[in-house]
Amino acid sequence: MASLSEPRPAMMLEEEKEEDVVLETSSVRKTFGGVVAVDDVSIQVKKGTITMIIGPNGSGKTTLINVISGFYLPDRGRVYYKNIDITGMPPHKIFELGLVRTFQIPRLFHNLTVLENMLVAYPGNPGENIGVSLAKKRWLKVEEEVVEKAFRLLKFFNLDHLWDSPASNLSGGQMKLLDVARTLMSGAETMLMDEPIAGVNPALAHEIFSYLVKLKNEMKITFLIIEHRLEIATRYVDWVYAMARGRIISQGKPKQVLEDPLVIESYLEG
Ligand SMILES: Nc1ncnc2c1ncn2[C@@H]1O[C@H](COP(=O)(O)OP(=O)(O)OP(=O)(O)O)[C@@H](O)[C@H]1O
Ligand SMILES: [Mg+2]
Repeated sequence: MASLSEPRPAMMLEEEKEEDVVLETSSVRKTFGGVVAVDDVSIQVKKGTITMIIGPNGSGKTTLINVISGFYLPDRGRVYYKNIDITGMPPHKIFELGLVRTFQIPRLFHNLTVLENMLVAYPGNPGENIGVSLAKKRWLKVEEEVVEKAFRLLKFFNLDHLWDSPASNLSGGQMKLLDVARTLMSGAETMLMDEPIAGVNPALAHEIFSYLVKLKNEMKITFLIIEHRLEIATRYVDWVYAMARGRIISQGKPKQVLEDPLVIESYLEG
């Protein structure tokens, strides 16, 4: 890592700017039969920011996330993560690079404890055989650092006191937070989230977004988030892309995009 104290020549500023972009799509197009779900979409996500994609139902938001995370191959266009062309890379390879998609329903192992849920999320873990591994004791010995990391993350989300509880005992909100914690445990640096606060009460929704901001500030985690509940999400995000009929119709600071007549019109139509 470059030293922060060293003054840099002015000519490097441009290059530095480019480095800020951690995730980029270039003219991505994805069709399903006759339906053009995503049409010529180019977006840039800067490291350590929260970028939000908005748009009416069917505007292509989820399809775009599915292309980025490798679930769909685009018909055209490229996807770059950390300046690596990841277009067509299998999802698990993209995951290994630290670009991780989360899902609306927390995918926890309900019969395992909170801590065990964290441990199985760690790359190279014994997966669902953790019970066997724990029984062998080998796990705890070898993975002391991993357990420490798990506790650090649980503490961050104020879940550490529940480490020994079965995940099934957690509240809905705690399950959502544990799911985010597990994603970080898996090595995520950039998180793709499709409606992370769907079906969550407003107080908890604000709490979840506050945690995302804290992750951004303290761990430089980057977020690309699809969200419909703009009245809640808007205040937490740095940049917004608005989609309609598969295309980007507006981008900018949240207030600017939400007041864009094109965006307002798209919601009225959609
Ligand atoms: N697997 C698929 N097969 C066929 N058509 C699809 C498929 N996935 C999405 N589509 C179509 O592509 C378009 C975009 O869908 P997409 O799910 O990306 O929209 P969205 O913006 O996420 O909508 P919502 O806000 O309702 O979640 C829609 O017309 C949808 O019907
Ligand atoms: Mg969707």
